[in-house]
Amino acid sequence: MPTKNVPEDNAVGIDDLSVYVPRLFLPLAGEFSNNRGIDPGKLIKGIGIERMAVPDAHEDAATMAAMSLLDLMRRTHLRPEEIGKIYVGTESALDEAKALGTYVIGMLEQIYGKGSFQECSTVEFKAACIGTTLALESQSYWAAVEEEGKVGIVIASDVAKYPLASAGEYTQGAGSVALLVKKNPRLLALEQIYGTFTRDENDFFRPMGCTTAVVNGKHSNQCYLDAMRGAFDSFAAKAKRLKAIAPEKGEGITDFVDHLLFHIPYPRMVEYASAAIFRYDWRESCRSKEIEQELGQEPKALEYDDPERYQAAEADYARHFAKSKQFLQAYQAKVRDTATLSRQIGNIYTGSIYLGLASLLEMQKIHAGERLCFGAYGSGCSALFFSALAQPKVASVPLRGLLQRLEERRQISLQDYERLHEGKKEKSVLPPRGEFALVRIDHQGYRHYEYAE
Ligand code: COA
Repeated sequence: MPTKNVPEDNAVGIDDLSVYVPRLFLPLAGEFSNNRGIDPGKLIKGIGIERMAVPDAHEDAATMAAMSLLDLMRRTHLRPEEIGKIYVGTESALDEAKALGTYVIGMLEQIYGKGSFQECSTVEFKAACIGTTLALESQSYWAAVEEEGKVGIVIASDVAKYPLASAGEYTQGAGSVALLVKKNPRLLALEQIYGTFTRDENDFFRPMGCTTAVVNGKHSNQCYLDAMRGAFDSFAAKAKRLKAIAPEKGEGITDFVDHLLFHIPYPRMVEYASAAIFRYDWRESCRSKEIEQELGQEPKALEYDDPERYQAAEADYARHFAKSKQFLQAYQAKVRDTATLSRQIGNIYTGSIYLGLASLLEMQKIHAGERLCFGAYGSGCSALFFSALAQPKVASVPLRGLLQRLEERRQISLQDYERLHEGKKEKSVLPPRGEFALVRIDHQGYRHYEYAE
């Protein structure tokens, strides 16, 4: 069982969260798969996405961020003057200098009054898909020493966009998650144990001026797995040193974890990541013998003269491991449900790991006292592995009706999707109602937003 090393009255963490997803979606099976000549089974099973969220012509990373924050403020009855900091994680920046959060504040002040956020600071965190997690880590240190009773907000907001007809296209999506960070949180207390891994990579990047990313897809999967394992190692060493987790002989770190949440560029990646982490964590546990009986011995690099033959044997073993009884049990119990919302939304880049958290909350899978571990990844590349404990009030926080909201979205045609993607559709598919909308970009490049009643 988890060792609770965070006294309740000293805890800092996530008190609540809100999710905003555009009202338009494109199903991957049907017109899209036919047109691109892809077997729908590959998209639904091999990749794991059924529907991609598509932003309408009046939406961008700033409107989505403002929408998730507005919802969070309304559901928690939070006033602007109670917010000390708004950190925004995004890789869909709208300006090379101006912080996206200032546009968000401008929009929110249309509701709460001009100047209402003037004592709140805001900064943008750019680190590909790990930006929001680094923002959360950073803000948690501030929240721990904050003495005026103010709270912090961390927002993830992104439009995941790849070139039309590319291998990344079917992993697109869009959306925003806003987290309320404070002392004595109702949902999750951070254990403040962070394992980090960073190295310079060219797996995914977006040079200045480009609207879509340059992606070395297969390489990005490998970088993700390498970085995750490095961050897990770093976390495990710290957790043991601090005695937050004290495995006995034959036990692994993941035996002390009830839910494992990973960055979700597409749901299958979560399966690959959890297989890699469980396999690594179990290497000295009592499970390793049972797995060896089921699968035979792992290939060992030293036993191969040819590195390519070793790599092929290793890939083959990994495929079998992912089908082993031991792994499937752990995956179903601790990981699978985190991808529920992502299957209906697609990738939202830096917020996708928190969509995983929202999935568990909406499905009421998190119980007081449970330990959650998060494995965030950002291309470029970096990973952060950290833990949190579900708080006694976790079940009292109202649900958000997200699964129902996703059912109420409007399906669009492939033609409308492509025109929106290429910025050729000036008029919105669904006219804005009860939401913030981009109304104009002026001759200097400044963006004007309005709340449409
Ligand atoms: N039915 C069921 N599954 C099928 C299938 C079918 N008809 N055809 C293929 N598949 C399976 C493949 O076997 C594979 O599963 P496996 O790994 O268990 O063997 C899976 O679908 C993916 O197919 P694959 O051909 O490997 O993927 P791809 O060439 O479409 O590329 C990405 C996938 C993720 C690399 C690509 O979409 C991409 O570049 N995305 C953007 C970058 C990204 O998200 N990176 C992730 C790390 S951040």
